Amino acid sequence: MTDRMTNRITIRRPDDWHVHLRDGAMLSAVIGHTAAQFGRAIIMPNLVPPVVTTADALAYRARIQEALPAGSDFTPLMTLYMTNGTNADDVVRGFEEGIIAGVKLYPQHATTNSNFGVSQMETIHPVLAAMERAGVPLLMHGEVTDPAVDIFDREAVFVEGVLDPLAKRFPGLKITLEHVTSAEGVGYVESARAGIGATITPHHLMFNRNAIFQGGIRPHYYCLPIAKREHHRQALRRAATSGNPRFFLGTDTAPHTRSAKEAACGCAGLFVAPVALPTYAQVFEEEGALDRFEAFASLNGARHYGLAPNAGTVTLVKQPRFVAEDVAVVGGEAVHVYRGGEEVGWTIEP
Ligand code: DOR
Ligand code: ZN
Repeated sequence: MTDRMTNRITIRRPDDWHVHLRDGAMLSAVIGHTAAQFGRAIIMPNLVPPVVTTADALAYRARIQEALPAGSDFTPLMTLYMTNGTNADDVVRGFEEGIIAGVKLYPQHATTNSNFGVSQMETIHPVLAAMERAGVPLLMHGEVTDPAVDIFDREAVFVEGVLDPLAKRFPGLKITLEHVTSAEGVGYVESARAGIGATITPHHLMFNRNAIFQGGIRPHYYCLPIAKREHHRQALRRAATSGNPRFFLGTDTAPHTRSAKEAACGCAGLFVAPVALPTYAQVFEEEGALDRFEAFASLNGARHYGLAPNAGTVTLVKQPRFVAEDVAVVGGEAVHVYRGGEEVGWTIEP
């Protein structure tokens, strides 16, 4: 429901279909930001060591629940990290028992903590066949890792060379192309067979690759897949705001300490959780599409995963709010917040 001045919008309580919560002190520092905005979130398994078995997922879920603010009814949806040795029976059992919502595929060395990832797709064909039969979603980090492929082309090459052949070989497999960043990725998902969807982050809707190099090298704009040219950002904006049910909200909030980002070899990932929903609302407003915000934020992802939308609603008001620069982590470190130090135009009504 949007009022006539669109100064206020009420939508079904949204979900975040792609979140990195980490563990320990970092988990405690960041989880409240996700839990305050979203009913559920798909939790990425790239811990060190990664979450590879259903037993790992159960233990991690318990640590997340422990770290939740008192009284929160946020639900973490767990995933397993696909390795060359993933056990198909464990995956199917974990899914059927409601412990996991899907399995995440990181091509080996594609991104943060992906050294346990899959080196040869053929190795996991039997697991994918079992997932297809049981209806277990496959979540993909969609980039090839061949160092000969230009970093800005890695998603497009993946879509054509890995995703499409896999989608054809396993025609019933449910697939999420995570954090799509390119016009090629968007175009593929738009015309793909049924059962293929994509998450879109707030930051890839907000800036293009120039931001990484504005007046110097800016590590807080570096994530993977890396932001691309402006025409790709425009394609993402069109897809997100189109109402097409294949596209849905997934922030890829990925906190790293300042010292890990502001380094000679800085980590990939933006901590976007504190400003996630207001930032998406801003994009939908700028695109004149606030009437389609609810579908993207609260309905399309649930449908893709075969879940009911959340009960309850959230209301955003057009009221500027100053965003703190950092979130402190116990132990003395701090995490820079995306858009920290700025005013953000939309605020979630308490
Ligand atoms: O920028 C990223 N950061 N991309 C990923 O795929 C992983 C994430 C992380 O875990 O930090
Ligand atoms: Zn991610």
